[in-house]
Amino acid sequence: MPDSLLPISKTTFIGPFEVGRLAYGCWRFSGSTVAGATVKIEAALEIGANLVDTAAIYGFGDEGFGAAEAVLGDVYAANARLREKTVLVTKGGIHPPVPYDSRASNLIDSCEGSLARLKSDVIDVFLVHRPDLLASYDEVAEALTQLRAAGKIREAGVSNFSHTQIRALQSKLDFALVANQPEFSPLAIEPLEDGTLDIAQEMNLAVMAWSPLGGGRLTATHQPEAGTQEARVLSVLDSIATRESVGVDHVALAWVLAHPAVSMALIGTQNVDRIKDSAKAYDVKLSRQDWYDVLVAARGVSMP
Ligand SMILES: NC(=O)c1ccc[n+]([C@@H]2O[C@H](COP(=O)([O-])OP(=O)(O)OC[C@H]3O[C@@H](n4cnc5c(N)ncnc54)[C@H](OP(=O)(O)O)[C@@H]3O)[C@@H](O)[C@H]2O)c1
Repeated sequence: MPDSLLPISKTTFIGPFEVGRLAYGCWRFSGSTVAGATVKIEAALEIGANLVDTAAIYGFGDEGFGAAEAVLGDVYAANARLREKTVLVTKGGIHPPVPYDSRASNLIDSCEGSLARLKSDVIDVFLVHRPDLLASYDEVAEALTQLRAAGKIREAGVSNFSHTQIRALQSKLDFALVANQPEFSPLAIEPLEDGTLDIAQEMNLAVMAWSPLGGGRLTATHQPEAGTQEARVLSVLDSIATRESVGVDHVALAWVLAHPAVSMALIGTQNVDRIKDSAKAYDVKLSRQDWYDVLVAARGVSMP
């Protein structure tokens, strides 16, 4: 039987919002000037990346807690048109030095702090950043329900939740969660087999793959140690990239987007040309064989 190409559409839905399958992540955004940050958001919009993902914690360790949201808020304040054009996603529940705090009062405070920094009336999709092992699902659900009823968030979701944690939280809500945000790339393949991508299909959750380039390790400039997973994966990506006349990063993004359960890849580059070039991922003609070749390189052993 002949091999077939994997379809990679350019748009998808997260809850009611239609968005590009490449989305823009603001983890590394906090050092930007407002002018520089505006150019990055405009570059993202140019390639259809109209979902902007941030979090209260982004900036911590550099410019400070909340700094990435504050820059984005300044961009929106200077140009309301950009707020209207983006689907705004942020996350709460991490307030250092305590690792995680998803008590209802804390999630509500966290969201209100984000709204103020983002200079926005409403968060389109609010995510619980990580599972707080000490918060009951009742109280997490209470916070999300209150925030939604008060019109502070339009939709709710989670990030880094396992399939059992998602199901437990959903059981306490009378509205549907719309998203989960796991790490997923050829260097982080656990979601393929740990139930993350299965529950997403079962519950129609948008899967927002974070660090799709392994945080920069799946790029031409990265020098992997011989014999490692990175080296094996980069070698296969490179041969596809050469054939397709694109970068290894574009092939990695295409690989992420080719999985039927993955809604979007959150790109994190701060380089405007790289933001625009990311759209080359949509043009990669990835066959079923290519996709499994990358997976086998990632696993280090053949498929059973
Ligand atoms: N939910 C969570 O717990 C969680 C955790 C982490 C991240 N995230 C989300 O995921 C988003 C993306 O994460 P990420 O920034 O790690 O994504 P990524 O796209 O995997 O990595 C971005 C890094 O790769 C580098 N890079 C990209 N293309 C390159 C190229 N062609 N050559 C050399 N370097 C290149 C960038 O450097 P340059 O800027 O120099 O291009 C940047 O340092 C974040 O912004 C955030 O929204 C979520």
